[in-house]
Amino acid sequence: MPEHRKFEQVTAKAHANIALIKYWGKRDEELFLPMNSSLSITLDKFYTETSVQFCGKLKKDVFIFNNNIADEAETTKVSNYLNQIRKMAGVERYAMVQSVNHVPTAAGFASSASGYAALASAAVRAIGLDIDQKKLTQVARIGSGSACRSIYGGFVEWTKGNLEDGSDCYAKQLENEDYWDLSILAIQLSAEEKSLSSRAGMKLTVDTSPYYEIWVKEAQKDLGTLKDALHHKDFEQLGQVTESNALKMHATTLGANPPHWYWEAGTISVMNQVRKLRDSGIPAYFTMDAGPNVFVLCQKKDQEVVEQTLLTLKEVQKIYVCQPGPGVSYLAK
Ligand code: PMV
Repeated sequence: MPEHRKFEQVTAKAHANIALIKYWGKRDEELFLPMNSSLSITLDKFYTETSVQFCGKLKKDVFIFNNNIADEAETTKVSNYLNQIRKMAGVERYAMVQSVNHVPTAAGFASSASGYAALASAAVRAIGLDIDQKKLTQVARIGSGSACRSIYGGFVEWTKGNLEDGSDCYAKQLENEDYWDLSILAIQLSAEEKSLSSRAGMKLTVDTSPYYEIWVKEAQKDLGTLKDALHHKDFEQLGQVTESNALKMHATTLGANPPHWYWEAGTISVMNQVRKLRDSGIPAYFTMDAGPNVFVLCQKKDQEVVEQTLLTLKEVQKIYVCQPGPGVSYLAK
């Protein structure tokens, strides 16, 4: 690629996602190839906007995060990721990366999915790589696995693939964000940093949990059930399999050596309250990622009562009401 051409600044916006069928465990750590396929909903409320410009004058990558110069560890992560994109494009220039996160990260909501989806999308375009959406999901994946699902809006499947080079491992949209107006309530419980990253947690589980093998089989089955529920817009089936899949994922961590868990007392309180809501005839279902916060799924008509009921719990700090959101978009300067 000729280095004398003009490298424009590109800004991309990507939304976070919540997995209904979880990705938990890698078969290849370098290529971020998962052991099981997963399925998520992209969330309209949480997103990251990232601008990238490759510039001949820079002596190193510069990373500005939420309007502050990022620390060395964060900048190194971004640089290592950009190295892979530079290699693909045959370009050696360093980049100026500016990222603003509209995900309450400090509150324990993961932002790596929207972060790497936005970074991948902006960097690929800024460096002049001409790749399709499928390939873009693969490039986002090598930043953070779940980021590949954030390239698309709505309901997204990440197919695990079987090939060693990862070429058959990618994300695809099953239904767009207008397909089903579900509500996803993101329940903020804790402002503390999570104790074990998803990366470390899943590796420990793959390496040591006797339940891991069962997890992989169950996740495969659950995915089929969830796709069927999606196809028929069967909310109760979707909710039941979502909840049960999350519990199975978390069960693998209890069987790991050393055992670990992501839940806090408030996590259990929300789970209990969601069950009580169901007993009273309101279909609501919970799911948790690798952290204490809970996401509660319900139908839009029940959103208000679910929100008000959960707000009465003393551990609940805040509730963000989300709907299925869009895929990556590019912003004009
Ligand atoms: O891609 P990571 O490292 O953010 O891992 C995601 C793991 C879970 O959030 C627990 C599940 C998922 O599929 O998003």
